[in-house]
Amino acid sequence: MLAGKRVLLIVTGGIAAFKALDLIRRLRERGASVRCVVTEAATRFVTPLSLQALSEDRVYGDMFSLTDESEMGHIRLSREADLLVVAPASADMLARMAAGLANDLAATVLLATDKPVLVAPAMNVRMWTHAATVANVETLRRRGVSFVGPNDGAMACNEHGPGRMSEPLEIVAAIETLIVGDRPLAGRRALVTSGPTREPIDPVRYISNHSSGKQGHAIAAALARRGADVTLVSGPVAIPAPAGVKLVSVETAQQMLEASLAAGPLDIAVCAAAVADWTVAAPATAKMKKRPGAAPPEIALKPNPDILATLSRSGPQRPALVVGFAAETENLIANARDKRQRKGCDWIIANDVSPATGTFGGERNTVHVVDAGGVESWPTLGKDEVADRLARRVADHFTAPRPAAAAE
Ligand code: CTP
Repeated sequence: MLAGKRVLLIVTGGIAAFKALDLIRRLRERGASVRCVVTEAATRFVTPLSLQALSEDRVYGDMFSLTDESEMGHIRLSREADLLVVAPASADMLARMAAGLANDLAATVLLATDKPVLVAPAMNVRMWTHAATVANVETLRRRGVSFVGPNDGAMACNEHGPGRMSEPLEIVAAIETLIVGDRPLAGRRALVTSGPTREPIDPVRYISNHSSGKQGHAIAAALARRGADVTLVSGPVAIPAPAGVKLVSVETAQQMLEASLAAGPLDIAVCAAAVADWTVAAPATAKMKKRPGAAPPEIALKPNPDILATLSRSGPQRPALVVGFAAETENLIANARDKRQRKGCDWIIANDVSPATGTFGGERNTVHVVDAGGVESWPTLGKDEVADRLARRVADHFTAPRPAAAAE
């Protein structure tokens, strides 16, 4: 989407400036070129050398450096860009932009440009909610400046609330939207199941698994960034729901099935949850007690409903695209192919969850996408990157459909 696009990245002072490095990397991976302008304060948080190394271009900071002005005046800096991105944008930068100041190179470039401008604010929650900042943001929005974030969450200053800069991938998606001008999944309804389920043994004990929900939550976020209307049905996890998705919290597989069916009608279903295969046949209504000399209790299990298979075989209600996961420790591709047939879904994302891979609970994942056309193996990627690639593949599917379901 960003091949050949030129982004002028303006980095201002703030703890979040370090995220600019990841943002550059992700933009370049997508084929964009990035040129950086830094404010004086930004250089206290991130070194121009790091920005230069990642962008493979020189970094501009000093408006009055003769070399800067002779080689690359501020007008040319903006003329040679397709888009200006301010990330992170401090409260000070927003104020200067709103007032039309030109008191350093960053502000001057922003005043001199006629290109689209995207701003990713990052600041303390009280600075963000201060009437002055609120008025500045309103002024900038009215002038056509686009905003991404800030997000809600814990901040470096030990406070909580809106003010965290959006994650690099959210900024990339906002850039894509601005440049390409559309949200390919807009108007599509998506369900994502995520996390483990908890099957009660008695009121205080349960059967569950190690799923962290990271992959499922990242997929929900990536689909939402591309415009889908996402319902995230999640078992108990320690991570927050991503911005812009509707969260339905459940505990048992049965509840997950009911919430998933209630989310319809759907265009897309992605079952990333690690659903317990069995549940306790008759959970005790009171806490089970140890009786001196008595044998340990035997817990009878019964099968849980299969949510993926149910959605895949839901007749006229069937989502147009159903995606399942295959968590395997051996014969990865063969088992995934078999699972795809058995469950009747369109794609299976096969991943090796042997303990040595660190996939369960970890940050990275190595996956193979199995569909009617064959197998597509992806390199080891961060879970958010896997999610982003999957969301792109889903969007491509709806614009240029691949071979249909389960007809291998
Ligand atoms: N799944 C589901 N409901 C279940 C069990 C699994 O929706 N009751 C979904 C998972 O979300 C995943 C896929 O089915 O998308 C595969 O789950 P997995 O546990 O890997 O496979 P199983 O069906 O349990 O098969 P096996 O035990 O043979 O590995």
